[in-house]
Amino acid sequence: MIAYDKESMVFTLHTCHTTYQMKADAYCVLLHTYYGPRISGGDLSNLIQYTDRGFSPNPGEAGHCRTYSLDTLPQEYSSCGVGDFRIPSIELELEDGSRIADFRYTGFEIHKGKYTLEGLPAFYGDQAETLILFLEDTASQVGLELYYGVFEQYDLITRAARVVNKGTVPVRLHQASSLCLDFQRSDLDLITFDGRHVMERCPNRAPLRPGVQRVSSVRGTSSHQHNPFVILCDHDANEEYGLCFGALLLYSGNFEAAVERSQFENTRLVMGVNPYHFCYTLEQGEVFTAPEAALICSPCGFTRMSQQFHRAIRQALLRDAHQDRRKPVLVNNWEATHFDFDAEKLVEIAKESAPLGIELFVMDDGWFGSRDSDLGGLGDWSVNQNKLPGGLEALVPRINQLGMQFGLWIEPEMINEDSALYRAHPDWALGMPGRAHTRGRSQLVLDFSRADVREHIYQALQTVLSSANIVYLKWDMNRSLSEVWSAAIPASRQGEVYHRYVLGLYDLLERFHQDYPGLLIEGCSGGGGRFDAGMLYYTPQIWCSDNTDAIDRLRIQYGTSFCYPVCTMGAHVSAVPNESNERITPLKTRGVVAMSGAFGYEMDLSKTTTEEKELIVQQIHTYKAHWKLIHQGDYYRLTDPFQNQAYTAWEHVSQDRREALVSYVTGSIHAAPPFVTLRLKGLDPQLCYQVNGSEESYRGDVLMLAGYPIPMMLGDYQSLQLYLIAKDETASQ
Ligand code: GLA
Repeated sequence: MIAYDKESMVFTLHTCHTTYQMKADAYCVLLHTYYGPRISGGDLSNLIQYTDRGFSPNPGEAGHCRTYSLDTLPQEYSSCGVGDFRIPSIELELEDGSRIADFRYTGFEIHKGKYTLEGLPAFYGDQAETLILFLEDTASQVGLELYYGVFEQYDLITRAARVVNKGTVPVRLHQASSLCLDFQRSDLDLITFDGRHVMERCPNRAPLRPGVQRVSSVRGTSSHQHNPFVILCDHDANEEYGLCFGALLLYSGNFEAAVERSQFENTRLVMGVNPYHFCYTLEQGEVFTAPEAALICSPCGFTRMSQQFHRAIRQALLRDAHQDRRKPVLVNNWEATHFDFDAEKLVEIAKESAPLGIELFVMDDGWFGSRDSDLGGLGDWSVNQNKLPGGLEALVPRINQLGMQFGLWIEPEMINEDSALYRAHPDWALGMPGRAHTRGRSQLVLDFSRADVREHIYQALQTVLSSANIVYLKWDMNRSLSEVWSAAIPASRQGEVYHRYVLGLYDLLERFHQDYPGLLIEGCSGGGGRFDAGMLYYTPQIWCSDNTDAIDRLRIQYGTSFCYPVCTMGAHVSAVPNESNERITPLKTRGVVAMSGAFGYEMDLSKTTTEEKELIVQQIHTYKAHWKLIHQGDYYRLTDPFQNQAYTAWEHVSQDRREALVSYVTGSIHAAPPFVTLRLKGLDPQLCYQVNGSEESYRGDVLMLAGYPIPMMLGDYQSLQLYLIAKDETASQ
């Protein structure tokens, strides 16, 4: 609900459990007065203290009043160069060379339904409401529109900003953030999700220290190294206790999340497109739209915050035609064959897979152009007839006849110098004449800021898609951007290329979304290098990591789950020793971990034993039986795999709390292991649950407060699953 009080010029946004408030003050400065657990309302600007502070200057209208300073006030969107020395939200360069911006409130609009952002991903929903606040910097005649989307049921508040040049001369934008959030406190921890290729999104938590702390990417993608999602929380916040604020950016390119603990123990969070190499020219009448950011506040710990993000992403961000249907269990040939395959080898794997219950065969990298290794071929999206005689027209029906659907790997944003496309259009790659290209995995990046380049790729892929019955694409992206310079635009606009690249990517993905409504696209960037909410709008699942080791995956999937729902995390069972770390884990455990995601296999199933095949059949059966519970239920982290090396446990609980699936995986074994009584979560305390079909049943309160005895398991990396279903009789325990 959005409330506006004319008298006090206070805007209050209420969700089911939270309240967000701001106020236009006497000078039309937009103050941020509150964000936290739901309160009744009123004007909370009385919380703001006005004190004369040395070296905190006072705006002209305040005359000689020394207690009013932008440097100390909590603001809704911080200005630049006018006496607030904390992180700015916006930076403009005018024709006269000045870099000053002082935005003041001029008006508002409230609408039913959620705003949309042209060309950018955004949460959607008719149930939501929109508030638009209009501000203006009079001297430059630049307008600023702050957008707020309020989704009550998810406790979700979205934000975005549009900068409009209303003057007659061009304006250069050096920064335009999506979100600025001021807190009148600094006793907070910052949690970021960091890592590297094959070890993404590991949580790191530390109390705020004075000054600015930031995570960012300058790689052109959101990156393996830092995720565009951060949490600010009470020092003692945990899964069930404490105030926490999650902030998510829906953007897949260079981003920055900067947090400043200021001199008077206030905190400012600013999130948006990274100002690094960013300079966007707005001619008269032109608009820049800052991507959407999304906030969820939980008054009771991380579990609630995560579950609300999961619901919101599943129901109001993913545009997934498959969402209410189970997605096919897939087998991908990458780890089985790498580049070394032909049609016969693929059909052999498929023949082994279909009887096990696998429904989709995905042909990975190596099927096109001269792609026998990663040295060539990217850009030439026509079938390699040596490997696949007769092309997809011949291969796909053979797979379909086995009762399996067919999917394909592509890497549309990339080009190898050894390709027909590069020989014809060397200027289509990002890079500068006179400078050597920096290669990544021996490849260059296509200039996706260019419509002609995107059009060529669209046409080429359209030809591929129309050649056979293809239901799935794995959209990969295997390097970071360098020499970011476009041959298609003038020198003065080169600061736009990073951002225009992302807009170009979104444009192409949107075209596929519109033109192929049933096509399932899985995102990928060397695994989880572009696992962000921007991509999820177009690709409802993302390959979570190139690391398929079940034990490392416990950490990666744990970290990912703080924001992103299980159904978005591509997770496959692969062969052992694992490619990433040579660890050997039992097949059972690999299944337990992978089925807590968008499930599949990534191994040569023609090399498995009869016993292994039997287990795979069982795994697929379990996944098919419980996919709804896993993908649409509430997710509970029962342990932290970074803290507890002995075992990791997590749980999916159905919305009606009548069903639950608990997964439990042990670490490397030591002699005489301790007893484990696992306390479950999210059950109905009154209900009795039958565990794994046994005669006995247990009351929900007992399972949650006293726990469930986990049988002792010897050997490394063992696992078990407990399926709980509510019974109507009285409990026996
Ligand atoms: C990336 C992906 C892998 C695989 C290879 C193919 O690394 O993450 O899953 O598709 O590319 O080259």
